Amino acid sequence: MQFPVLALPLLAALASAIPNPSGAQVTPAPLAAKRDLTHVTVTIVNKMPQSLSTSVASNGGDATLVSGGGSGVMAAKATATIVAPQNWNGNVAFGLANYSSMQVPSLIEPGLTQVSGEWMFDIDVSYVNGFTVPITCTCNSGNTFLSGCNKDLWALATCDQDGETKIAAAGACQNPTNEASGSATSASPFFAPCAGKAYTFPNDNDANSEGKCDTGSATCCVGTAADGC
Ligand SMILES: *[C@@H]1O[C@H](CO)[C@@H](O)[C@H](O)[C@H]1NC(C)=O
Repeated sequence: MQFPVLALPLLAALASAIPNPSGAQVTPAPLAAKRDLTHVTVTIVNKMPQSLSTSVASNGGDATLVSGGGSGVMAAKATATIVAPQNWNGNVAFGLANYSSMQVPSLIEPGLTQVSGEWMFDIDVSYVNGFTVPITCTCNSGNTFLSGCNKDLWALATCDQDGETKIAAAGACQNPTNEASGSATSASPFFAPCAGKAYTFPNDNDANSEGKCDTGSATCCVGTAADGC
């Protein structure tokens, strides 16, 4: 089985869910409450006042989306839905539609992966490649925070520190602490305000949501707190 990039925290969470062999009472890990899901549903809401470019990609040879694949444009205030089957892992990329290219975009990374015979939903927001727009994902059950950050990083810092590169044609800030950069343990200055919420470097695992949304239905809000996210 080919593990997605985020397999290591998933295995760590799995280890913590293994029953205590002594039979002593242990507090169940969040993973123990996961459901045996057949599909997951991700609703995307564009709360920004601008149109978004979107693009859905699958990791490797997994199953295809039930619906909602491909590339497109979401108008301001528009809503879109993705339904993904078992064994699907991938991402949805977002950028402002007024830019001519999509590079190092903000991502959501949903997946439905089999763990110890049960199908577990995971979704994260990743700025590990770069940042275009803010995204926050919550579980529809209880409106629980899962992953992401509703801060407009463009308003908080300039994208030119510690190897950060602004890509003008894409309206993007390229993250220097990406997968190719090795084992960073902290975010670069532009990305730091979202560290531990969205992935801002590959091991930024406080941004992980595995096992926290066992209903398999989440909503991802694109925009800032002021936009309503
Ligand atoms: C795209 O729209 C944003 C938000 O209105 C604006 O800040 C930016 O300058 C625009 N970029 C281009 C290339 O038109």
